[in-house]
Amino acid sequence: MPCPPRSDELVFFVNGRKVIERNVDPEGTLLTFLRKNWTLFTKILYACGRGGCGACTVMVSKNDPVSKKIRHFSVTACLVPICSLYGAAVTTVEGIGSIKTRLHPVQERIAKSHGTQCGFCTPGMVMSMYTLLRNHPQPSEEQLMEALGGNLCRCTGYRPILESGRTFCTESDGCQQKGTGKCCLDWGENGASPRGRENDICTKLFAKEEFQPLDPTQELVFPPELLRMAENPEKRTLTFYGERVTWISPGTLKDLLELKVKHPEAPLILGNTSLGPAMKSQGRFHPILLYPARISELTMVTKTSEGLTIGAGCSLAQVKDILAERISELPEEKTQTYRALLKHLKSLAGPQIRNMASLGGHIISRHSYSDLNPILAVGGATLNLISAEGTRQIPLDESFLAGLASADLKPEEILESVHIPHSRKWEFVSAFRQAQCQQSALAHVSAGMRVLFKEGTDSIEALSVAYGGVAAATVSPQKSCQQLLGRHWNEPMLDEACRLLLDEVSLPGSAPGGQVEFRRTLVVSFLFKFYLEVLQELKKLVKLFSVPVSALDSQCLPDISDRFLSALEDFPVTIPQGVQTYQSVDPQQPPRDPVGHPIMHLSGLKHATGEAVFCDDIPVADKELFMVLVTSSRAHAKIISIDFSEALELPGVVDVITAEDIPGTNGAEDDKLLAVDEVLCVGQIVCAVVAETDVQAKRAVEKIKITYEDLEPVIFTIQDAIKHNSFLCPEKKLEQGNIEEAFEKVDQIVEGEVHVGGQEHFYMETQRVLVIPKMEDKELDIVVSTQDPAHVQKTVSSTLNIPLNRITCHVKRVGGGFGGKVGRPAVFGAIAAVGAVKTGRPIRLVLDREDDMLITGGRHPLFGKYKVGFMNNGRIKALDIECYINGGCTLDDSELVTEFLILKLENAYKIRNLRFRGRACMTNLPSNTAFRGFGFPQGTLVTESCITAVAAKCGLPPEKIREKNMYKTVDKTIYKQAFSPETLIRCWNECLDKSSFHSRRIQVEEFNKKNYWKKKGIAIIPMKFSVGFAATSYHQAAALVHIYTDGSVLVTHGGNELGQGIHTKMLQVASRELKIPMSYMHICETSTATVPNTIATAASIGADVNGRAVQNACQILVKRLEPIIKKNPEGTWEDWIEAAFEQRISLSATGYFRGYKAFMDWDRGEGDPFPYYVYGAACSEVEIDCLTGAHKKIRTDIVMDACCSLNPAIDIGQIEGSFIQGMGLYTTEELKYSPEGVLYSRSPDEYKIPAITDVPEEFNVSLLPSSQTPLTIYSSKGLGESGMFLGSSVFFAIADAVATVRTERDIAEDFTVQSPATPEWVRMACVDRFTEMVWNYSSQ
Ligand SMILES: Cc1cc2nc3c(=O)[nH]c(=O)nc-3n(C[C@H](O)[C@H](O)[C@H](O)COP(=O)(O)OP(=O)(O)OC[C@H]3O[C@@H](n4cnc5c(N)ncnc54)[C@H](O)[C@@H]3O)c2cc1C
Ligand code: FES
Ligand code: FES
Repeated sequence: MPCPPRSDELVFFVNGRKVIERNVDPEGTLLTFLRKNWTLFTKILYACGRGGCGACTVMVSKNDPVSKKIRHFSVTACLVPICSLYGAAVTTVEGIGSIKTRLHPVQERIAKSHGTQCGFCTPGMVMSMYTLLRNHPQPSEEQLMEALGGNLCRCTGYRPILESGRTFCTESDGCQQKGTGKCCLDWGENGASPRGRENDICTKLFAKEEFQPLDPTQELVFPPELLRMAENPEKRTLTFYGERVTWISPGTLKDLLELKVKHPEAPLILGNTSLGPAMKSQGRFHPILLYPARISELTMVTKTSEGLTIGAGCSLAQVKDILAERISELPEEKTQTYRALLKHLKSLAGPQIRNMASLGGHIISRHSYSDLNPILAVGGATLNLISAEGTRQIPLDESFLAGLASADLKPEEILESVHIPHSRKWEFVSAFRQAQCQQSALAHVSAGMRVLFKEGTDSIEALSVAYGGVAAATVSPQKSCQQLLGRHWNEPMLDEACRLLLDEVSLPGSAPGGQVEFRRTLVVSFLFKFYLEVLQELKKLVKLFSVPVSALDSQCLPDISDRFLSALEDFPVTIPQGVQTYQSVDPQQPPRDPVGHPIMHLSGLKHATGEAVFCDDIPVADKELFMVLVTSSRAHAKIISIDFSEALELPGVVDVITAEDIPGTNGAEDDKLLAVDEVLCVGQIVCAVVAETDVQAKRAVEKIKITYEDLEPVIFTIQDAIKHNSFLCPEKKLEQGNIEEAFEKVDQIVEGEVHVGGQEHFYMETQRVLVIPKMEDKELDIVVSTQDPAHVQKTVSSTLNIPLNRITCHVKRVGGGFGGKVGRPAVFGAIAAVGAVKTGRPIRLVLDREDDMLITGGRHPLFGKYKVGFMNNGRIKALDIECYINGGCTLDDSELVTEFLILKLENAYKIRNLRFRGRACMTNLPSNTAFRGFGFPQGTLVTESCITAVAAKCGLPPEKIREKNMYKTVDKTIYKQAFSPETLIRCWNECLDKSSFHSRRIQVEEFNKKNYWKKKGIAIIPMKFSVGFAATSYHQAAALVHIYTDGSVLVTHGGNELGQGIHTKMLQVASRELKIPMSYMHICETSTATVPNTIATAASIGADVNGRAVQNACQILVKRLEPIIKKNPEGTWEDWIEAAFEQRISLSATGYFRGYKAFMDWDRGEGDPFPYYVYGAACSEVEIDCLTGAHKKIRTDIVMDACCSLNPAIDIGQIEGSFIQGMGLYTTEELKYSPEGVLYSRSPDEYKIPAITDVPEEFNVSLLPSSQTPLTIYSSKGLGESGMFLGSSVFFAIADAVATVRTERDIAEDFTVQSPATPEWVRMACVDRFTEMVWNYSSQ
């Protein structure tokens, strides 16, 4: 056998430590390298693997060969090929600080500002902020926003993260009260107002003055060895040979060109942001990769009097800087194209991707969604190509972008640079894009447009238009442009241009990506925007050069009325501001009692330093194997055969686990763990591969051949399920009064429909589990990311047919759950356990983001029909609602969700005659499951839509209808549970007041009168949210508290730390009860061995019930200690504990809470299903762009009744986080399926959770003061879920703006409500001449 060639040494630094890799695998990334070498470096977190979430952000420092300066830039480690790091220094979160040594100010501040909940996004956030500070020690707020644009957080709602970053900014005074006119410095210590001031309201959640200053001189220096390497650059070609791939990095252009002759099929790899995702998800494979980053010719920038030539190897971030510099140097008329490019570069992806992606890679990738190619095409850019044969130029035009062989690079050619000419006088270039949300989202449609006028006239001399997103490649409708030459710039020209474009830019109804009418509408809407922009500029020129009227069209350039000018403005990215208010603790409360204070999350600092251990951070166990799941590719089919013989032959593959390997029960009859005979959805788990490594297991999965025979029926939608009578459980119904009779007596009746889309949990930590079989007695240790370890334990027990007492589940912390880790982890735990028992080896199962999204299901989509009867004054007399939810293929929690939905449907309204019915549909989609709010956010949207429909019919504002129909006095709900709405009304009134609702409503109306193309909307929503489960046994909880002889205390309880701060709250409780500081206490994990038979941490009740159990345990201990304390009242805690030990008093106690009484009798439609309610109200104001469907959130005010918050920082964090998650549900998060039932939206590229730029510009949250409840621990309330529904205030504000448009344009009211209110929905609802054009065109 020939000897494998020897690789060069890969030399780089991580956190100041030299790394020499002699046998590096070119297929590896920096992320896989760091995770594999966990003994050397802190692990780094994986969340999406595609550069889309920022969880794996690190800083890379390189010496720039051209500027000779060291460049520090953020990157996403999951896309950085390990071989690209030759000569680079990598800094991870571990490298900047640690709780063991010294915290970096960024780490300290993000934790102490409460900018971390589950902590999974935190290291990435820290590194993005750290990199910003390395480059700008005193950044502007704008720079801060930009730096965090590529980092997603699913928990916090971003506000506290920004707040922590803001403490470094130049403009910031750190005051959180912007907009109130007051300064926090006027308030008392710890944020408490000086005694006697209004209600003792606090606004300070952290003490900025305690933060350590940033000292840039303390940072890690660039390793001198790398500096020396950079000064004498290695010119020889470096080669790294892997098992399947060879990485070749030439040192000179000549070598590169020779290599390209030798390997014409080998791609150049630069940022890997295009190649990387394609290799991962499209299975593309390149045995040879050429890495030209060391070739200085590719990063050259040449400025000439004609234009700018930029090296193809420059990163998009560098291109952005180069363009900004050139724009500042040249007159405006020359920089039209540069300005357009710069505009799009600001919103193209996040900073990490812009730092990695190269200009050449962007152009050559020719993505149809490209933001830059349309502008480069219209700007007349030329591509400078080079090969061993010589150089040549080709235009970056439609033929090149379409990949036509005649206009393309030859295999041995590379792109050396791009020449972008200056624009000229009388020439205008603009760029447009519309995406699902403002930042970090691929455009639905992007466009570049250019027009050149005959000097001194408005006659078109040249016109070019290019669109991305409307075909497989960027298109330039040249015929249309040709036909418009010589035309004057006026309305008839615009009409003609629209008609021509719609003809030429053909988007068939079946175009991939759908949204055909929307995209067509954008094609002409963008053109209209361009028309207006140019008209404005032309007018200035005409005035400047005193152009004679004769040179112009007879219309003399039509005037644009002020009302229409709003079409021109894009929504700017603004930095959110806001105030958070809460009631200070009782002045009589002892200072050492932490209850009611904004205590930092217990793990906050560990999150920020990366030292917090998540499930997959557990070191690799001896002989550990990796499991990958094999899922069905058919929606409904019989399994004919499974052939895994080929898979078993691959290196490293140990076994394939099927249903036959299960020694006990294979799930439930209708919900199997592993499919047998039949599959019911795409994504159903059929079998699982176990191999020595994850890479080997993934390769084996591709070799498993499953043959199917398709079965009928195949049902995906609720409508189809209704048609086929396909339901998972019987109808749930509640009724009161006499609905039929009431309908006969009302003034008016409206009927309508509401469609609410599903939602993906998108917890940052995907599902993962590690099962370790022990040496004896069939014992298993299971480390799992779950909200319900007892359920995992039970499922594993029945699957393996071994008793529960042999199985111990451990949960240290969970990187976000939101309901998605209640039921599903048990399935993964059980399958992994079967593998562990069969192989006798530990099994690790970590789902990829794509698999997690495909397999696990999410929030139930809902279809609601309503009929509402009301008087002309807006009083609702009868309401009949019928809801259907899409449960997917198995029951899971669908019956419970239906019940909760029906129970909660009345929200805050007292309507005498009601009928609520609900059913869960069975479809061939993955089973939907629990999700924050459990049906309430979907169902109540139907109720609130009825209110807006009634308001529209009565000609009254919706808030008047809400007020008129709200509960006013002590009353009974539809299920006859008594309650007092006093706090609900207080929340409503405070929200009206704090948001200055009525005056702002007037301002909104005035704005709308003055603006045609932009409209504002405002809405205020009340909320009555029931907390807890409808069964007493689900409210029981237990705790175990040990006091050790040194006085330290170990607290264990049945709740799981999901980021919601339950452990922090539990120690606050224990500290109050035991009367010792929290520093004495510790919680190490939740385990089925310490607290058995626990209930899922869910339904907002976790802290409440477990708090009672902890309280009980502590009170038992205190009682035991009482005689000792009495005997020695001056003694210390340590003295008393020592004495107790001497006197043989047990220092360990179990606490127990039997639970709140709760029941529901569905036959009688009566019960007391919920222990208590949380009340709240939210007011949101938005502005929409009628031409694109985009919206901006101007302001949100939330008032929430938290009663006596255990920890206001944590509770406000829950409210803000759930509000932003709710906002995502109602505005941007959209699940898309293929006609065959395959989920398309399986990554952050396709599924858009809110990003930092989506936070309302002003975001105020206040906890209602002086509210009490005798029922709960220390009169607190559970706030985990309720904020979710308040996100609908944004939805109704958007709907309000859309309704204004429709009324103004005399378009019929539409009572079909569609959530999410995506740009597509908004644009198409704002009917105008352009939508009409498209519809007319489609109907031809
Ligand atoms: C999370 C994420 C978000 C994104 N968001 C956006 C967005 O909002 N808008 C947008 O327009 N784009 C977006 N992109 C796409 C991004 O702009 C491109 O992936 C990127 O510009 C490609 O550059 P690269 O250096 O990474 O290319 P690579 O992946 O390294 O290479 C891509 C291709 O280009 C070829 N190539 C590279 N350089 C040369 C050369 N000099 N000569 C010949 N061939 C060459 C390679 O052979 C390869 O085939 C996003 C990408 C990611 C991962
Ligand atoms: S960006 Fe790397 S894991 Fe998401
Ligand atoms: S704290 Fe940001 S994702 Fe959980």
